[in-house]
Amino acid sequence: MDRELNNLIEQEATRQRDGLEMIPSENYVSRDVLAALGSILTNKYSEGYPGKRYYGGCEFVDGIENLARERAQALFGVTHANVQPYSGSPANLAVCFALLQPGETLMGMQLASGGHMTHGLAVNFSGIYYHSVQYTARADGYLDLDEMRALAKAHRPKLIIVGGTAYPRVYEWAKYKEIADEVGAYLMADISHIAGLVVGGVHPSPVGIADVITTTTHKTLRGPRGAMILCDGEPSNFLKAPPEQSRQYLPTMIDRAIIPGLQGGPHNHQTAAIAVALHEAAQPEFKTYAAQIVANAQALAIALMERGYTLVTGGTDNHLMVVDLTNKGITGKQAEKALDAAGITVNKNTVPRDPRKPFDPSGIRLGTPALTSRGMKEAEMTQIAEWIDDTLSHRDDADRLEAIKREIADFTRGFPLPA
Ligand SMILES: Cc1ncc(COP(=O)(O)O)c(C=O)c1O
Repeated sequence: MDRELNNLIEQEATRQRDGLEMIPSENYVSRDVLAALGSILTNKYSEGYPGKRYYGGCEFVDGIENLARERAQALFGVTHANVQPYSGSPANLAVCFALLQPGETLMGMQLASGGHMTHGLAVNFSGIYYHSVQYTARADGYLDLDEMRALAKAHRPKLIIVGGTAYPRVYEWAKYKEIADEVGAYLMADISHIAGLVVGGVHPSPVGIADVITTTTHKTLRGPRGAMILCDGEPSNFLKAPPEQSRQYLPTMIDRAIIPGLQGGPHNHQTAAIAVALHEAAQPEFKTYAAQIVANAQALAIALMERGYTLVTGGTDNHLMVVDLTNKGITGKQAEKALDAAGITVNKNTVPRDPRKPFDPSGIRLGTPALTSRGMKEAEMTQIAEWIDDTLSHRDDADRLEAIKREIADFTRGFPLPA
């Protein structure tokens, strides 16, 4: 009935179908995930947790939340999963709220080095309400473990956060844990970007190493927008404060941080869609999908480097890469705009030690999860590198960009969307 809105959704659907979606934090969900997300479950209030709710009529949503929790626990191999965080940022806020008093020290990865705002950026809650210490990547883009250890010893943070939004290499969880243990800090692994790679077996898991794990559910995990907090410890009883703040009671500390600490009613439609995505991620095909994401990223990285592009760290181990465009005489903002005009969606991104500002940085970030969900493989990545190069080399030629856009729209017809 709402034509105005429907037109906009239709246009967005066409954009998603006809273009190359290369933002590494995006993906295409299945029809089943969409169906759960668009279901009548959005009508229900259910503050609390299964079996302990502040509202009546929760018998079926209890079953749904239990299913999501059990699937998350089985898939990741943890004893406790909280599936209620509305999204990744609130999940990270909840961990800080559970573990730190205002003014206490946390240490996270600097945004320009590949970290996320919620890991201690000065203008984010994590940098305003807590004393934030930021570690950086070396000039070559790799995490600087020596600096991390020196900063930890100097500032003795209570929480160390590792896991970024633009880091193209493997996270060495045991090494970060060693540093955390040396100063008595909790280690939080934010695997938002790589959760699908972890369950697909193509990235080491932080389970059994990190004290707490947060993840969004909508990136490589290919679920709805949402998040989870995973940990081990005594079974949670969110109605009673734990006898002490310690690792043993993390499940209760986390659950109480979500509600009553930060949130009200869980989004049951989102929880159901997370349960669907977790079921899909537990299938053998998902392992093939995860391996193909990485193979595609590596093929794309090689094809770009062959065309003279500089990649932060000189390549990738995961689903994303950061291209430093300085040698091409183009800024990240200009590149993003030109690629948009050609039907290639990317985002501008800072590079380590970027002399430019985040709103007009030196690089772009590219990823392969969404393209891989369409069934594209290594050969298509080489073709895409060619289009990227063609676009950036002719960025002021509107006719050329329009022609590339048409070619890409034709090409994408061979790779239908999952839903
Ligand atoms: C590493 C990391 N953590 C947290 C988030 C925040 O997730 P959301 O955008 O759902 O709040 C993101 C999102 O990009 C992320 O990359």
